[in-house]
Amino acid sequence: MNKKITILGIESSCDETAVSVVQEENGKIKILSNIVSSQFDIHKEFGGVVPELAARAHAEKIDLIAEKAISESNINLNNLDAVAATAGPGLIVCLTVGLNFGKTIAASLNKPFIAVNHLEGHALSPKLNNNLEYPYLLLLISGGHTQYLSVESLGNYKRLGTTIDDALGEAFDKTAKIIGIEFPGGPKIEEYAKKGDSNRFNLPKPILNRGGCNLSFAGLKTAILRIQSEIKTEQDKYDLAASFQKTIEEILYKKTKKAFEIYLEKNKNLKKTFVVAGGVAANKGIRDKLTKLSEENKFELLFPNIYLCSDNAAMIALVGLEKYKKKIFNDLNFKVNPRWQLDEEANFLKGAGVKI
Ligand code: KG4
Ligand code: ZN
Repeated sequence: MNKKITILGIESSCDETAVSVVQEENGKIKILSNIVSSQFDIHKEFGGVVPELAARAHAEKIDLIAEKAISESNINLNNLDAVAATAGPGLIVCLTVGLNFGKTIAASLNKPFIAVNHLEGHALSPKLNNNLEYPYLLLLISGGHTQYLSVESLGNYKRLGTTIDDALGEAFDKTAKIIGIEFPGGPKIEEYAKKGDSNRFNLPKPILNRGGCNLSFAGLKTAILRIQSEIKTEQDKYDLAASFQKTIEEILYKKTKKAFEIYLEKNKNLKKTFVVAGGVAANKGIRDKLTKLSEENKFELLFPNIYLCSDNAAMIALVGLEKYKKKIFNDLNFKVNPRWQLDEEANFLKGAGVKI
């Protein structure tokens, strides 16, 4: 039988208002629409996301974005099978807008409602353009999270390592800010790096040879602040960006190698699949370095398409689709969970003096 499953996905956890329609037909997943409205212009003068302004922008735009996504997908609302919305982690005032919007649509159409963990959206995102099977090792690198996880099945995650301070995207954005690049500067660092000398500045690689596959990036920011007074010309900025990019690539190469070892101890004889997802997975230098490492270690490496690395609702609809197939639905009184973790049993590992 020609069975179609059609899911509406809604994302508003930070500064992107996004709605998407994803459909599976005979096992093949198609993105019918994927509308993302970013709030860069609203937040750039503040150098970071201002939660109240972000929530207001979500509230003002979400219905328009949804209308656009539905009309572009050419589906009839009654043909939706379920509505999925991000419930966490993220900014509470922002999450509330999308979650309530999703619940309202589900209730008015009398369709199942599915609460989605934003990180699970990133974790599954390569499935929108690849064949992806469990289990796999995941490196999640975004603006708010940096973790190695063993993904065992839908909703079943074991954290193998995490940053003990800044997330990688945050480290890119902070470095960009020090250089004088407008928020969010992460993607620009890569462009600057192409014109610079990566050997000019020697930056630290915190906890490189200890702490398993845990990571630390705060020391880089401190080191960069120390040399900030030497950054005067455009060429100095390019050189610093290149040195930073190279340092990050080297840290990820070494820590991922460690993560491979830890993962294989627990997953002997299984197919070796490695997924890199989240906003920073769009970084070409990081992609190339981790591709090389994966080839050396015979891991199959999968990334989301570049345009699906940063926040979007197609990945939220995709998690909705997977949960729909397992009949995992939520009540309409499901609350936002700003600190929702993928591995809820993992220890909290943050702050000075933490034992790794
Ligand atoms: O996944 P994402 O869109 O949002 C969160 O869930 O956090 O990730 C956003 C982060 C930002 O810090 C942004 O600067 C970073 O991803 N980013 C990049 C690149 N593109 C986005 N960092 C480095 N290189 C890039 N090309
Ligand atoms: Zn994200």
